[in-house]
Amino acid sequence: MSDIAETKPLLRVLAGESLAVPPIWLMRQAGRYLPEYRAVREQVDGFLNLCFNAKLAAEVTLQPIRRFGFDAAILFSDILVVPYALGQRVTFEAGEGPRLDALTGPEAILRLRPTIDRAVLLPVYEAITRVKKELPPYVTLLGFCGAPWTLATYMIAGKGVAEQVPARLFAYRQPKAFAGLIDRLVEATVDHLVCQFAAGVEAVQIFDTWAGILPAGEFQRWCIDPVVRIVSAVRKQIPAAKFIGFCRSAGTRLGRYVAEVPVDGVGLDWMVDLAFAREHIQRLRPVQGNLDPLALLTGGAALDRAVDAILEALGDGPLIFNLGHGVLPDTPVAHVERLIARVRGATSGRRSSEDRKS
Ligand code: CP3
Repeated sequence: MSDIAETKPLLRVLAGESLAVPPIWLMRQAGRYLPEYRAVREQVDGFLNLCFNAKLAAEVTLQPIRRFGFDAAILFSDILVVPYALGQRVTFEAGEGPRLDALTGPEAILRLRPTIDRAVLLPVYEAITRVKKELPPYVTLLGFCGAPWTLATYMIAGKGVAEQVPARLFAYRQPKAFAGLIDRLVEATVDHLVCQFAAGVEAVQIFDTWAGILPAGEFQRWCIDPVVRIVSAVRKQIPAAKFIGFCRSAGTRLGRYVAEVPVDGVGLDWMVDLAFAREHIQRLRPVQGNLDPLALLTGGAALDRAVDAILEALGDGPLIFNLGHGVLPDTPVAHVERLIARVRGATSGRRSSEDRKS
């Protein structure tokens, strides 16, 4: 094990260790629930201009580390910078989420750039370099990307839609063209992740937010297979590259994901049954998750109970504490403080300080 891995709790867990106090970070830990984020956000016109401003992106990445002392910083960016760097128009309307020029047929896919425009993404990599210089030594720097299926859902529908009907129909009606889009996204993602590692991230999370909407066969073809290709292609260039795979709503199909995708850790959404996770996922791979973001929003005894249930079920094995999806904008900062204190043992006193090796 390298020196770095020995000093960073999150990397130790990804390497298979069980720690008495699990490392903690939160998906969307930089965001609108933080007043200091809203102050920076007001300085720029348009969310993408924040993502492409290296100085400000680095600043908002660091804000939750300064305030809460999380064990990981996640690069402030968005999964949709990849479609943007492939030449698709992407904007974010206030309060409405992303808007893209929908890909309506095979011709539209062919009009995309064959590879990402690295010049467009340079500020993202520069933000990584800036953050890396400022991080306390125990904090792991995470990069990320969207999985090809999840990116394709936004690229084809042009926005977030329920049940992903446009992308599912496209994949059934024009499987060849759809496979072409997935191939292009696999290549673009490999390039984007290699650049993130080169700039200094120590692990990356692959977000497949819409994995759960697909039937089993399609889940294999459009979620598992492309991510297997991404992980092995990145490792060809960066053999030590560490991955966390996050498939939302995949349920028991996570068993198949963990059997086939060589990620180092598996992200669990808040719906995953804890006994299933312990038996079928954590026995094979470190897990990350899976507090309900609504329990965090609620706070108080409901939050404490939900935290304790996760620690009880998964705390003896390799665990990275996290939410089961992103922090909601109305979440009180005090609830995040309470969560961290409870996980680190300050209020419950139930965790011993001695680390256990698995
Ligand atoms: O986790 C972090 O703190 C890092 C930053 C991050 C953002 N988006 C910032 C963001 C990460 C890791 C993402 C991932 C992302 N983006 C996903 C996968 C994870 C998930 O949430 O399911 C998806 C599907 C997107 C696409 C996206 N970006 C949507 C659907 C939206 C609108 C919904 C919303 O929360 O507003 C965004 C916008 C976005 N991305 C915001 C942030 C902080 C809010 C924009 C703002 O501040 O005005």
